[in-house]
Amino acid sequence: MRLTSQLLVAGGLAPLTHAFPRMMYEAAAQDPSIVARAAEIEEQLKARQAGANAAAALFEPINTFNEKAQYVDVSPGSGHEYVPPGAGDLRGPCPGLNAFANHNFLPHNGYASVLQYIDATNSVVGMGANLALFLSAYGGAIDGDVLNWSMGGTPSLAQGGATGILANGLIGSHNKYESDASPTRPDLYQSGNNYKVVESQFQDLINHSPGSVTIDSLTAFRSDRFDQQIANNPYFFNGPFTGVLVQPAAYTFIYRFMANHSAEYPQGYLSYDTLKSWFGVTGDSGSYKATPGTEQIPANWYKRAIEYPYDTDYFVADVLNAALLHPKFLDIGGNLGKTNSFAGVDVANLTGGLYNSADLLKGNNLGCFVYQLSAQAKPDVVLGALTKLTNAIGDIIGPLNCPKLQAIDDAQLAQFPGYQKQPAFP
Ligand code: HEM
Ligand SMILES: *[C@@H]1O[C@H](CO)[C@@H](O)[C@H](O)[C@H]1NC(C)=O
Ligand SMILES: *[C@@H]1O[C@H](CO)[C@@H](O)[C@H](O)[C@H]1NC(C)=O
Ligand SMILES: *[C@@H]1O[C@H](CO)[C@@H](O)[C@H](O)[C@H]1NC(C)=O
Repeated sequence: MRLTSQLLVAGGLAPLTHAFPRMMYEAAAQDPSIVARAAEIEEQLKARQAGANAAAALFEPINTFNEKAQYVDVSPGSGHEYVPPGAGDLRGPCPGLNAFANHNFLPHNGYASVLQYIDATNSVVGMGANLALFLSAYGGAIDGDVLNWSMGGTPSLAQGGATGILANGLIGSHNKYESDASPTRPDLYQSGNNYKVVESQFQDLINHSPGSVTIDSLTAFRSDRFDQQIANNPYFFNGPFTGVLVQPAAYTFIYRFMANHSAEYPQGYLSYDTLKSWFGVTGDSGSYKATPGTEQIPANWYKRAIEYPYDTDYFVADVLNAALLHPKFLDIGGNLGKTNSFAGVDVANLTGGLYNSADLLKGNNLGCFVYQLSAQAKPDVVLGALTKLTNAIGDIIGPLNCPKLQAIDDAQLAQFPGYQKQPAFP
């Protein structure tokens, strides 16, 4: 039995439960040796909480490496060799998806269906089914025409058809999907761009990561980026969904999905060269050069172990670990039009008293909160019931037994200019 399902019975990690068949952990809950082991692991987790790498010890406890199964062939003749985007091909803020399109794991024009996104994220980098379904369906509902969406800006009529051209794609989804304080991308209202690599930020990531890039180094980098944007972007906004869920993904995905795996490093090793390839960066430390559109899956690259997909349970554990180290990550709010003017909203006021800030870290609350908030986001295009999205969210939060959220009080956010401003795109 997977260690993760044993853990569930300890109760302390309740948000992790949904990915496993209920019968499995009910059976485990009857077994005293498993219950004892789960408690022990939970203690170890607490002891290791100082390092944000803790979640890996829970979710990748066995040193598994299968060379054949984990190899991602992008060699000449594989059908997945690198082809840079041509004029009109859509690329955007997500280096992973950009690289998938450059290697024909997604349509080369950058406009794909929800199903294609689910398949590609699962098969190329080992994203778990729940996380892939949620992220992809959310893209369809918020940035596309429900069934398809653009990884860049608005598609052309030829790319997206009559319904596609009404949607904005990832680039146009600031505060809905695209967030502030990204690792290498600038803040939209500070720089007018939200998808190009800023070389100094890439350099900063490297500087935080002596030797190689790890979850710990990325978490420390995120903490500094967060402070940096409060100090430099008068419109900095840490949104309830984009700040609490998307921002951490932008950091943890770097290690969890881009690292190379081997018998020596079954949990992954992320060298500077591998990182540069995925981000479309060349040159050496001190003189990095980013070229938009050139994101590549490295040659001889091995994805994460098939047995340990990175799913919602694992991701939520990473989010919690990071927030335990840096509680400010959960501060929903923003600057008030001046630098260093960050004010937070009271989570209780935002949620009609259902949650409060201190309780977000307890039990299932954080998982419930972010998924419920994602369901509140209002799509630009009204194309029916958004059943896919609500079903995906329902599947994920159903087993969490979330308390019922009546409504989000958007008025709480109105004081933040970074929330009020509308993105202007040519
Ligand atoms: C359907 C699946 C996915 C969706 C919907 C998605 C969406 C996004 C969005 C909206 C952003 C911008 C966030 C921000 O403003 O900071 C982003 C950034 C990012 N994504 Fe993805 N993504 C997906 C899959 C992946 C995969 C598979 C990888 C890794 C291989 C990945 C790696 C990243 C990274 C590293 C960033 C941060 C870029 C930076 O600022 O440096 N994503 N993604
Ligand atoms: C949108 O997605 C649907 C369902 O997967 C697919 O049949 C259709 O071809 C897609 N449309 C475009 C324009 O890609
Ligand atoms: C991944 O690791 C294997 C084993 O060490 C190595 O042969 C391969 O070159 C590495 N790939 C990358 C992209 O670093
Ligand atoms: C937030 O809630 C508190 C009571 O919980 C109330 O006193 C306060 O006025 C509320 N603030 C706003 C802006 O609604």
